[in-house]
Amino acid sequence: MKLKFFSTAMLICAVIFLSSAKSFAAEFELVSYSAQVKLQWLANTGMPEAKKILAEIGTANIYNKKNLKDYERLEKLNGIYQELCYASTAEYVNNQDYKNIMDIGGGYTPRAMIMVNDGRKYIGAELNAVALSATQIMPKFIKPQYKNNLSYEDVPVEDRDRMIDTANEFNGKICIIEDGLQIYLTREYTDAMFTFIHEILKTHGGCFITSDFVTNEMFKELAAAVYGTNSAQTLFNETKVMYENLFGEELYMDKFSSPADAIQFLKSKGLKVQQVPLITDTSKLYSLKNLTPQQVSKIKRLCAKNYLWVITAE
Ligand SMILES: C[S@@+](CC[C@H](N)C(=O)[O-])C[C@H]1O[C@@H](n2cnc3c(N)ncnc32)[C@H](O)[C@@H]1O
Repeated sequence: MKLKFFSTAMLICAVIFLSSAKSFAAEFELVSYSAQVKLQWLANTGMPEAKKILAEIGTANIYNKKNLKDYERLEKLNGIYQELCYASTAEYVNNQDYKNIMDIGGGYTPRAMIMVNDGRKYIGAELNAVALSATQIMPKFIKPQYKNNLSYEDVPVEDRDRMIDTANEFNGKICIIEDGLQIYLTREYTDAMFTFIHEILKTHGGCFITSDFVTNEMFKELAAAVYGTNSAQTLFNETKVMYENLFGEELYMDKFSSPADAIQFLKSKGLKVQQVPLITDTSKLYSLKNLTPQQVSKIKRLCAKNYLWVITAE
């Protein structure tokens, strides 16, 4: 019954979204809606860049109080979670001053706008329909002198030629960002993706950054910081169900039995992992503004943990 309600709500939202997106002339796969939901959470934190992109997409919010039980808690928590992941990759790129960014499963992330307007070259490697719609939307936010530094391309991560050809568009070392894609990839696709990532990093140098290997730990720790330890598992489960309803099937969350297992897997691909603090400067986070000092100090402790994985070729 619950699933039926969600599926119907999702279908209605999908129809609204599709009808406004039909000029993009490509089929949206269900997973592509996750990019809009992620943007919605980020926009709800107050981040101006995310709000602007969401307004430009111009569709109703997929999730709202009417179709999502526990909406208010989930909105707040997912807003903070998304902003932490976002800010972590942004800080790493700034600190290391990477000039080339390949964002796989990049969706409509505002980091495209910010990084390109900082003079970096950014390619959003996406499924075809998102690549097409982002190509229409995102250049509107780019300073004229940097227009040629931004592109979105049809690059399924399991397609070796598309991955390698896209990487070859860069000169110099590349920072490959992956934020929120892995839960949608089968083990087979994950396997293929890291084989190609190894090939790219060997050829071009650079790194692959993500916190996706520690999503479970990070999310539950955050939920405990904001709503208490007793609520953490429930909020994790509710968020998982929310994304599964959107995706139409179970998420691929248990591909690795532990972070150590994931490290072994990456090693077998010729990749090594350095774990670094998620965020060192939390002063500019929008999502922390309306929290209590206790909540903020717990989140700062989380940010100091080595939740960002910097993966390089051995
Ligand atoms: C949760 S969204 C992440 C959006 C973005 N990384 C962000 O931070 O806002 C996942 C994205 O992965 C894309 N995606 C899913 N499967 C993919 C695949 N096999 N190859 C490339 N992109 C894929 C979807 O289209 C979707 O935009």
